[in-house]
Parts: sequence; structure tokens; C-alpha cells
Amino acid sequence: MPTSLGLLTDFAVDEPTQVTIDGDAYLVVRRSQSPDEVCVVRDRCPHAGLSLSRGPRGGYDNGVITCPWHNSSFDVCSGQNLDWTPGFAGLKAPTWSRRLIAMGKSPAPLTVLPASVRDGEVIVDG
Ligand code: FES
Repeated sequence: MPTSLGLLTDFAVDEPTQVTIDGDAYLVVRRSQSPDEVCVVRDRCPHAGLSLSRGPRGGYDNGVITCPWHNSSFDVCSGQNLDWTPGFAGLKAPTWSRRLIAMGKSPAPLTVLPASVRDGEVIVDG
């Protein structure tokens, strides 16, 4: 069932905004590359299930969101994992330690919701 998240103009460009959908946290991202569109991803890292938007150091840059906990990075529209557990809290760790930091978990993508903008409103289907 389609759900409205508000007006497109409610979401600042290049600033992922947390919203709640059916009790779960998601991030709405309006990229400067295509500010008339949005991408919606779960605000939960597939590595350890922690928030992507709250933590020691993370961030968003040019369509890529970096987890603040162990620095895994993801394409914010496809959800594709681009780098898996390369460090802690924004600090790079030695390559040999990645497996330890991963705690046995294999790289996985973010959960992505289908989203669109209709008549200036952000709508998710799902
Ligand atoms: S919780 Fe996100 S990389 Fe570990």
C-alpha cells in the first residue's frame, strides 16, 4: 500500500533524513545528482543491525552512506555494499583485521524501499 512521507521539499538535498515507516526507521535521501527523486533505505546496517544515521562517525557523500560503527559503505539508492567493515568509528583498520571486525558476517546490501515523487509528494510502495 502506498505511503506518503511528505513533500519532496521537506527533505534537504544531500542530507539523509530519518523517517519511521510501520515502526521501522528509514532514511530518505535526495541526492544532488537528481534532486527531484528520492531513495529510501532502512536505517539499519546489515552488518550488526546498528543505525546508519546515529553513531560515532559516519556520513553521507555523493550517493554513498557510510556506517558510523565499522565504516561499511553502501550505495544509497541500490543498497549495494561498496566496502565491508574497513575500520571503526571513521578510523581505518589494517586490512588483515577486516574479518575480525566483520564478526563472521558476509557483505550484504541495505534494504531499499521502492520510492517515487508524485505531485511533489514522496511516496513509498511496499
Ligand atoms: S554496524 Fe555497520 S559496519 Fe558494523
